[in-house]
Amino acid sequence: MDQNQANDASVWGDETDIAARVLAWATDRITKEPDPHATAQRADHLRLHAGTTITEDGVGAESALDVFDRVLAPATRAQADPLNLAYIPSAPTQAAIAFDIAASAANVFAGHWEAGAGAIHAENEALEWIRELLGWPNTAGGTFVAGGTSGNLSALHAARTHAWNRLGERPLGGWAIACAASAHSSIRSAAKVLDVDVIELPVAHDGRLTGEGLADALTARPGLFAVVASAGSTNAGIVDDLASVSKACVELDIWLHVDGAYGGAALAAPSVRHLFSGIEKANSFIVDPHKWLFAPYDSCALMYRDTHQAKNAHAQTAHYLDSVDREQTNPSDLAIQLSRRARGLPFWFSLATHGTKKYATAVEISISNARQVANHINESSHLSLIAQPMLSIVLFEVPAWSDDDYQAWSSTQSRNGRILCIPTKWDGRTVLRLAFVNPRTDADVVTQILDEIADWRVH
Ligand SMILES: Cc1ncc(COP(=O)(O)O)c(C=O)c1O
Repeated sequence: MDQNQANDASVWGDETDIAARVLAWATDRITKEPDPHATAQRADHLRLHAGTTITEDGVGAESALDVFDRVLAPATRAQADPLNLAYIPSAPTQAAIAFDIAASAANVFAGHWEAGAGAIHAENEALEWIRELLGWPNTAGGTFVAGGTSGNLSALHAARTHAWNRLGERPLGGWAIACAASAHSSIRSAAKVLDVDVIELPVAHDGRLTGEGLADALTARPGLFAVVASAGSTNAGIVDDLASVSKACVELDIWLHVDGAYGGAALAAPSVRHLFSGIEKANSFIVDPHKWLFAPYDSCALMYRDTHQAKNAHAQTAHYLDSVDREQTNPSDLAIQLSRRARGLPFWFSLATHGTKKYATAVEISISNARQVANHINESSHLSLIAQPMLSIVLFEVPAWSDDDYQAWSSTQSRNGRILCIPTKWDGRTVLRLAFVNPRTDADVVTQILDEIADWRVH
């Protein structure tokens, strides 16, 4: 190929039909019911059925799309299936998914204001809503990162930089963060990346971290620079006692990071807003729109009470970045990222389309579904509720079952495309866990499936 050919825009040929074909597939997929039978396949199965798709001359769009449609997409779990209640599922609005395609089409470089102003402005408006829900001052701000894991890491890096700048040196014995054992695994992962210790704090009888004992933990560990509280733990949906934790953190002058990756969405739900009291004093916060704010993967809203502290930690400098406009707040200055897609746009579009009232209603539906199912479990003779759900996660036991029974039942249900409900541990015991985030989930169908457990036998 000569240089002229390589420079020729026609190197790809006319792709108009390809774009139309892919968009037609996407439109069909967005409006179709998710397939509950879609599930992971072994790599050798996929290799056999997908065949070779990467070749010197390309297999062509029709063929590649056909492989995706027939083989690859069905080998992915339907996250938005109303009976997918495993892990933390995802239930994006059609508006959010459709706009994800628009955001890709616009192909915005949203790391710097000068390149992505319009998109960043829209993202910031969505963050404003979260800021108001938090009760934070209007000097607060943030950005969207890929997920809760990178949000937690970015926030804790900002917290450590803040502590380091104040102390002027690394403390003897190194840095540490403190959290309850129920904090998400990504907190320990962030601590590993930052090379800081994790001090595990005791919790009250209801599983909540409280401010009690924080002063002792701090005295015992001089390099402790942040406390991490959960606004909705992953396993049980527990919201830590943010009122007493934030009070203690303010008194002790220590950074409070609140991980609301899952449960932060419930700030929008009036029925449980009181549980978050004290969050207005936190220094940083995350919530994932791809979890319970009806946006597709991947998106985490990362918020700082004071964005200057984040800029001190994250702003990248180099001669090739000298001309970047630093008058504006650049998303790349607030997290571990430089190039970024405007991954808050699908959430913004959905919120702008449907309005905050419908968002509140949709979150309330999951809370109400969780309560209905919990009450049903409580009244049933063959099931035992672990605790009333604080948000929308329900844990329960089948007292007659062994660990193998739990696993066998869960696998059978999944294989049959009936319900995705997987075991976890509570207090050292195997229990079942249901996570409600999809307003299309019908609680009556869930209770009917749970009733059938009474007659269930391993076949
Ligand atoms: C409370 C909490 N924090 C953090 C995370 C990590 O989020 P992500 O999977 O988006 O990285 C999760 C994931 O479930 C979570 O539930």
